[in-house]
Amino acid sequence: MIRKFLIVLSSVMSLVPVGAVCRPVSDIIPRPAELQYGSGYFRFEGDSVPSDRVRCTLTGTGPESYTLKVSRDSILITAGDSAGLFYARQTLRQLVEPDGHSIPCVSISDSPRFAWRGYMQDVSRHFFDMDFLKKQIDAMAALKLNRLHLHLTDAAGWRVEIDRYPLLTSLAAWREGDLWKDWWFGERKYLPEGTPGAYGGYYTKEQLRELVRYAADCYVTIVPEIEMPSHSEEVLTAYPELSCTGEPYRHSDFCIGKEETFEFLENILTEIMDIFPSQYIHIGGDEASKKAWTECPLCQARMEALGLTHVDELQSYMIRRIGTFLESHGRTPVGWDEIMQGGADSTAVVMVWRGVDQGVRAAEGGNRTIMSPGAFCYFDTYQDDPSTLPPAMGGYTPLSKVYSFEPVPDGLDSAAASNIIGVQANLWCEYIPAEEHAELMIYPRLYALAEVAWSPASGRDYGDFHRRALVLCERMRADGYNVFDLAREVGDRPASQQSVEHLARGCKVIYNAPYNATYAAGGDTALTDGLHGGWTYGDGRWQGFISRGRLDVTVDLGRLTDVRSVEADFIQVCGPEVFLPAEVVISASEDGSEFRELRRITREVVRDDRVTFVTDGWHAAGAFVSARYIRVQARSGQFGGWVFTDEIVVR
Ligand code: ACM
Ligand code: ZN
Repeated sequence: MIRKFLIVLSSVMSLVPVGAVCRPVSDIIPRPAELQYGSGYFRFEGDSVPSDRVRCTLTGTGPESYTLKVSRDSILITAGDSAGLFYARQTLRQLVEPDGHSIPCVSISDSPRFAWRGYMQDVSRHFFDMDFLKKQIDAMAALKLNRLHLHLTDAAGWRVEIDRYPLLTSLAAWREGDLWKDWWFGERKYLPEGTPGAYGGYYTKEQLRELVRYAADCYVTIVPEIEMPSHSEEVLTAYPELSCTGEPYRHSDFCIGKEETFEFLENILTEIMDIFPSQYIHIGGDEASKKAWTECPLCQARMEALGLTHVDELQSYMIRRIGTFLESHGRTPVGWDEIMQGGADSTAVVMVWRGVDQGVRAAEGGNRTIMSPGAFCYFDTYQDDPSTLPPAMGGYTPLSKVYSFEPVPDGLDSAAASNIIGVQANLWCEYIPAEEHAELMIYPRLYALAEVAWSPASGRDYGDFHRRALVLCERMRADGYNVFDLAREVGDRPASQQSVEHLARGCKVIYNAPYNATYAAGGDTALTDGLHGGWTYGDGRWQGFISRGRLDVTVDLGRLTDVRSVEADFIQVCGPEVFLPAEVVISASEDGSEFRELRRITREVVRDDRVTFVTDGWHAAGAFVSARYIRVQARSGQFGGWVFTDEIVVR
């Protein structure tokens, strides 16, 4: 049953009152490929359009496609298949005017840009119940999304009943600590089911079969993910004999040297295939440590027997072997982009998360590719000023950024471009313990993902999309979704929104300790380019320091200059180990060798959930200081980690 937000629209202010002579404005998300308004309205009584005035024809052309012609007397739908018919109805629902009894005359011809239009829900880090999943399936259907990827297994909890291995749900599904971060930064203990205070849960097979049916009614396929060879601490505590040393609470990676590992995983996948009819079965593949494999006699023996020289090839062996097993059952393996390390079978589908460049590699290498790069498609990031939102993983991915995503990068030839079969948004839930919080992270960003996935690339217009998104936010809020308040979005960090003039702008920076190449920002000119960073250290404006004492730079002002103040901003995001400096020293010199300390700032660095910004500086109490060289040093504190700064502002 599709939730009513697409049927009853009376709570929404109409942009075009019924009967107005001006041309209606489409509020439909995702934007149809072609849409032309006629004049007048199709009017009806009651809650739904009477069927004798609607004519539907299945044409057998174009999967998921449809045309819709609304005239004053009738509604004509032609659809390529039953999915197309379903999507025509979704569009029709979005066309119903706020009076609930009229639909503008319109002619629409529509079909999806991509076959895979996905959303991933992490149910391991925090457990979400069936009603929550059904509610999100309703919204997905309305947005013409068609794949719900469930991240069912990870260190924080196994979430699917498996008959053959009961400890997966009687132990590995339960942990000490409701909040992932308390558990993860604590002792990471698992507890037997029923232990007072144990947090967790799992879906029974019966529940999952029901969910599969519910989703199928909405033309959504549920794609299960079973993580391997890594992210498997919970399995390897319940069944430690499958790890390299056999010790519980020690390993994240399965032992690839043991045949029992393959027997176990194949038995699990057999039960998974029995629950989920999806053509695609996700087998993880991301972030394997592979460390134990280098020391394990069985893993080493396997490598030797296969003539492998690198542990990446051992991972590749495992993924290929499991992929072949799935294919022998008529299914297709999907894995995160690390499955290309050591080589992937061309039949595997690569789900790209680390960056668009990985997608280019996969598509050019001949693999079908789903684009889900973190920079655009991870919704565990902040979407606005972090101080106004619940703690998140970090990062900053506003609606406009998601909307700007182009899944087919420039320069791909047509064969490689045709390998890009879709796009997907992912909601990792380490910092998302509650349903309302999850919805806040999902909507409206999922609208943008849906439009990227469905609508033609040409004709994208963020202004128009934003207007439609505001309308849909209201509709969904009226239907009980906790949607981010887009109308009050403030945008990126104010300091980053305009460039700053100061005496060091454009001046040479001497790096007494190097910046890290991954976070080079603008390179040698980043700290004097007049540009402050935004809400995230990863935005290409913040420069990152991890080696030696951390930040140590000298700015050469070019000539003796009267200096009144020196300032530098710092950012703290504890999850990725980015900390405020414990000590900042600002000094000045006339000749570049003799420095006079102007100010030393010290602080206790405290771990917390917030994203924090500080400006540390020296301000002349009285007379200016005459200097050509300004040195800024920032030392990390007890946690080590990164120091990031964005500009040395000298006045
Ligand atoms: C991932 O984010 N590790 C796929
Ligand atoms: Zn091993």
